[in-house]
Amino acid sequence: MLKSLRLFINAAIERSDLTVEAKRYPKICRGRCDSDLAAEVIIAEHAAKLLLEKFGRRLCNMTPAVCRRMFSACFGKGCLNMEKIKIGRNDPCWCGSGKKYKKCHCDIDEIISEHEVLGEIVPPRKIIKNKVQIDGIRESAKINTLVLDYVAERIKEGVTTEDIDRWVYERTTELGAIPAPLNYEGFPKSVCTSINEVVCHGIPSESVVLKDGDIINVDVSTIYNNYFGDASRMFCIGNVSEEKKKLVEVTREAVFLGLEQVKPWAHLGDIGQVINDLAKSNGYSVVREIGGHGIGLEFHEDPWVSYVTTKGTDMLLVPGMIFTIEPMINMGTHKIVYDESDGWTVRTADGKPSAQWEIQVLVTETGHEVLSG
Ligand code: MF3
Ligand code: CO
Repeated sequence: MLKSLRLFINAAIERSDLTVEAKRYPKICRGRCDSDLAAEVIIAEHAAKLLLEKFGRRLCNMTPAVCRRMFSACFGKGCLNMEKIKIGRNDPCWCGSGKKYKKCHCDIDEIISEHEVLGEIVPPRKIIKNKVQIDGIRESAKINTLVLDYVAERIKEGVTTEDIDRWVYERTTELGAIPAPLNYEGFPKSVCTSINEVVCHGIPSESVVLKDGDIINVDVSTIYNNYFGDASRMFCIGNVSEEKKKLVEVTREAVFLGLEQVKPWAHLGDIGQVINDLAKSNGYSVVREIGGHGIGLEFHEDPWVSYVTTKGTDMLLVPGMIFTIEPMINMGTHKIVYDESDGWTVRTADGKPSAQWEIQVLVTETGHEVLSG
């Protein structure tokens, strides 16, 4: 029974133009809003109709959820992965460019499959951006950089982190954009300000005044036309000790060493390897629990980017992927502690300083493009 059902459903899938239909039903499912899931539901509904014709009512009083369960029984988990359904060379490309598949992602898909059969982790289609999306994300990232520039011109001893928050809010909205952190999962401010032993996610406050010798990370993220930008910089306030200055410099160097690894068909792990090596050779450590992320259509997308990975491992890099390189490098232990009282601030476990720089990077056909930094 399962075998004949499987053959039947395969034929049903083949006959229908489900990819196109799925696009018309974005966000069909509450909670999980991806179009793959929408596609699965469409397939399920479609198949239910066909099953009704073939097998009669007995099999077909089925909701899409029941259908999905039945499909899983037939094909195993992930059986209705739209990416496995073949697209004709003359059909519209899955990326939404409107171009024919053979003139768009067909060649790239072939290379991806060559890596996939070797057991490598390959990016899901939803994180590979098309030209329209890249252009939109680039605009948002540009605004993000302008906001960081605005902070850079004003930051100095005596200002409060609340002042920085106000600058970020005012400049971002003046440019027609929205600060992404504001109300993000309950984050109360427009920017993260992380001083000295604060690793990341410091909350701006009226009572925190920048003083001579501080190092501070200002992490700016922007939403513009629903596209996301994200980058951060370190600032040295007044006379900073040589050892803190060096931590800040090495961390910046680490980010750009990581960036050099970014090109098509390299691996995400290549970035982590060079960053971790550089940190270790300076006697520093890299934070493990918090990393970079895909970004563009959402604030945080796949992949999660670790900076303690090994060369040649982790996700294959493919043109159209956009993610951040944002290692947190500690002078002492890599261990961190979360502030229970505010729910956000992350500090080094030993109280020693930590530094972070963040850039937002696009994988291009020939290498990479820094979108914000
Ligand atoms: N740029 C930080 C990140 O990549 C910003 C976090 S915003 C916060 O995660 F709201 F989550 F704090
Ligand atoms: Co980020």
